[in-house]
Amino acid sequence: MSELLDYQIARVHAAFVDRFGDAPEWMVRAPGRVNLIGEHTDYNEGFVFPVAIDREVVIAARRRDDRTVRLYANNLQQADTFSLEAIAEVPKAPGAPTWSNYLRGVFSVLLEAGHPLGGLELVFEGNVPLGAGLSSSAALEVATGTLLDRCFDLGLGGRAIALFGQKAENEFVGVQCGIMDQFISALGKQDHALFLDCRSLDYRNVPLHLDAADLAIAIVDSGVKRGLVDSQFNARRAECRTAVVHLAELLERPELSSLRDVDEAAFLSVAERLSDLIRRRARHVITENARVQASVEALEAGDFAAFGAQMNRSHQSLKDDYEVSTPELDRLVELAQAVPGVLGARLTGAGFGGCIVSLVARPALEAFEREVCERYQAETGRVATLLVTPAAEGVGLIEAPTQAEGLKRR
Ligand code: GLA
Repeated sequence: MSELLDYQIARVHAAFVDRFGDAPEWMVRAPGRVNLIGEHTDYNEGFVFPVAIDREVVIAARRRDDRTVRLYANNLQQADTFSLEAIAEVPKAPGAPTWSNYLRGVFSVLLEAGHPLGGLELVFEGNVPLGAGLSSSAALEVATGTLLDRCFDLGLGGRAIALFGQKAENEFVGVQCGIMDQFISALGKQDHALFLDCRSLDYRNVPLHLDAADLAIAIVDSGVKRGLVDSQFNARRAECRTAVVHLAELLERPELSSLRDVDEAAFLSVAERLSDLIRRRARHVITENARVQASVEALEAGDFAAFGAQMNRSHQSLKDDYEVSTPELDRLVELAQAVPGVLGARLTGAGFGGCIVSLVARPALEAFEREVCERYQAETGRVATLLVTPAAEGVGLIEAPTQAEGLKRR
C-alpha cells in the first residue's frame, strides 16, 4: 500500500471519528483507472485494456438502526442527508451536491433491484484528479457499491458491483458510458492490465512485467477539464448505432447488432458506400478492436515496442476518425512520441480534454518531464501534471480499525 494511501486512510478514519463520534465499522478503497488501449469500444461491445491507478477513493462507514443516510465529503467538507424511503421515490435530489448524486445513484439502483439496505453514516475522500478522465466517479461508485455489498451482506461480487455502478452513472449523471471504468476499478489486479470483452464480460488479468522491462506508465494531465463530454459522448454512441444500421443493410446482415461483429475486410468491402462521417466513426471502432487484440498479443510475447506502436495508431484514429481529441492532447502526444525511450503515447479516456498515457523507459522519465510537461507549459501557459503510476489493485476492504495507526489491508 502506498504512503499516500496510508495517509488518506488515516485521514478518513479521523474525520469519521470526528464527525460521528465513534470508529467506522467498515472501510473500503477503490481506484481510478487509465486505459492503455481500446477507446470508445466498450459501448460497442468490443475490447478494452485498462489498468487501475494508485489514486483512490476511501470510504469509512457505520450502520445506523434507522433508514437515514448521512454523508460527508471530507475533501469538500460538505454534508448531505437523505432517507432511504425518499430516495426510492425521488432518487436524484435537485438540491443535493453533485458528489452526493453518485452515492445516491448507487443506493437507488440497489434498492430498485430489491436489495435490502439500511441507514448508514459515511465519510469519504478521494485523490483521483477530478474531471481529468481518470474515472473518479467510477471509483466512488465502486467504493460505494462494495461498501453496501459488505455492510448489508448482499453477496454481489465485482461484476455486479461494476454493473450497478455503470447503471448509476447512466441514470444519474446522464452519460451513457460503457462498463470499462467501473469494471477495472472493481476487478483490477496489481501489476496487471485487464483485458475485457465488453459483450460477455469475460476478462483476463494480463501481467505487465513493467519492472522487469524497466518501463513506467506515465499519465500527463493536459490541464484542460473534459468539456462537452456528455453531449459529444452521447452523439458518438448515436453515430455508432447509425453505422450498425447502415452496415447491416450494405452487408446484407440484418442480424448485425454491433460494430464488434464487423471485421476489417467486411468493412472495407462496403466502406465507400457509407457517408464520410459514419465511415470514419465505424473505422475507428473496428480498427481499435483489432488494435487491442494485437496489443495484448504483443504484450504476452514481451514485445513492448509493438504494444507502443499500437498506442500511437490508436491516437491517430481517435484524432482523425473519431474526432475526440483536442489541440492540447495532440500536442502532448506529439511531444511525448518524440522523446527517445517513449514506446507509445495516446489520449486516454473519453477525450475532449483530460489526459494522455505513455509507456516510457524509466531512465527516460526525467527527459519526458522536461520535454513534454515543461515544454507544453512553456508553449501553452497551462500546467501539465505528470503522474507515474503502477498498475494498482482493484477495490478492496480495509480492516475496520479502532485506531488510525496500524491499518492493514484485508
Ligand atoms: C469514458 C466512459 C467509458 C469509455 C471511455 C472511452 O471513460 O466512461 O465507458 O467509453 O470513455 O473509451
